[in-house]
Amino acid sequence: MRSTRRSAPASDPLSTSPSHEAASPTGARPVARPKVVLGVTGGIAAYKACELLRRLTESGHDVTVVPTESALEFVGAPTWAALSGKPVASDVWTNVHQVPHVRLGQTADLVVVAPATADTMARAAHGLADDLLTNTLLTARCPVVLAPAMHTEMWEHPATQANVAMLRERGVLVIEPAEGRLTGKDTGKGRLPEPAEIFEVCTQVLARAAAGVGAARDLAGRHVLVSAGGTREYLDPVRFLGNRSSGLQGYALARAAVARGAEVTLVAANTTLPDPAGVKVVRVETTAELRDAVVSASAAADSVVMAAAPADFRPTGVSEAKIKKSTDGSAPTIELVQNPDVLREISADRSRAGQVVVGFAAETGDETGSVLDLARAKLARKGCDLLVVNDVSGGAVFGSPDNEAVILGADGSTTQVPRGSKSALAHAIWDEVARRLQD
Ligand code: CTP
Repeated sequence: MRSTRRSAPASDPLSTSPSHEAASPTGARPVARPKVVLGVTGGIAAYKACELLRRLTESGHDVTVVPTESALEFVGAPTWAALSGKPVASDVWTNVHQVPHVRLGQTADLVVVAPATADTMARAAHGLADDLLTNTLLTARCPVVLAPAMHTEMWEHPATQANVAMLRERGVLVIEPAEGRLTGKDTGKGRLPEPAEIFEVCTQVLARAAAGVGAARDLAGRHVLVSAGGTREYLDPVRFLGNRSSGLQGYALARAAVARGAEVTLVAANTTLPDPAGVKVVRVETTAELRDAVVSASAAADSVVMAAAPADFRPTGVSEAKIKKSTDGSAPTIELVQNPDVLREISADRSRAGQVVVGFAAETGDETGSVLDLARAKLARKGCDLLVVNDVSGGAVFGSPDNEAVILGADGSTTQVPRGSKSALAHAIWDEVARRLQD
């Protein structure tokens, strides 16, 4: 039986974020601003890097932009210099007395390249160093994040895939490109994720590095599946039974897993949140759709985290036409049937050896037992490995950015996670999952 433990506050990527320290208004002690090198390479998405740069500088990071020659064809040096407040160079012959080709990499806390072209990744994978950015990548000993953007054919080419695999093998965090509209009229995988979401990855990676988390990429090579949001059960084409789940906790789990190196699939039920960078998002509406999506993706998943709130019941039938009011004022009767319990099914199936299954439970105590008594019984009933328990005795707070929970393990462990961001709870959950995956 594991002992009760309190999750390390260092797990909170936001509260420990160096950028937050840098922005501290106390002025009591000068705090070094995290040094970020923003590499920009020659793709049309280079313009999106301007927003990433803005977000980084405005949150207190000290950013040096290193565009490649081709990137400057898309966005000129004056833009990068003005937005970063620093001189900009692409070659190794500018300000040679400061030895920038080694200094930048050696002193950086994070190197992020967005967009990263197939060409730059090939050169980085093979250790070429023919401009300032590739020199910086060779000398950097800090975390490196690459956000590739290119046409689908280039991304899928075996050469690119081999280079990406090689870079990941060496500890580089290569974010999966998003699917959607590409440069021309075509669509497919290869889009640069939204800058706000790349920024999220950067701050989480920086925070984990600053907190000295030993295995910062402890989910590298793992595939995790997260469900989020609340399902809808339709009565007719315009009405449904739903719930108030915002999806925030599931999205926080997906983001945290990306920052820890995992390949992430997110089954999202009726959420309106932006797609997290590097995450494959599968959209569903009903519990039946969610069940099918989860069951199908779980076959390849090392861990399944059911953060969604699937409706337990659905109407026995969906009216094809909008249900009309009756003239005599009587209301229709809605008959319900029970939906499948997805968590229970996944837990019972276990087609993949060593898979870690996590459920959530919002509980209140009653005359039959305390919150934890009832949660332990639910953990056994559901058959999962971990149950994240929210005590909602005082009323559930839907859509809140904060959360507090107890993580119960089927092995008897109890981990208290103090009130903090949903991101902090997400990391505490992945800490427990990662530990079990290693066992
Ligand atoms: N869940 C599920 N399928 C359902 C309902 C819930 O997979 N049809 C999952 C949720 O994603 C969550 C956990 O089960 O991880 C929440 O369980 P909860 O709704 O609290 O459990 P119930 O089965 O409704 O509990 P009870 O047995 O107390 O009614």
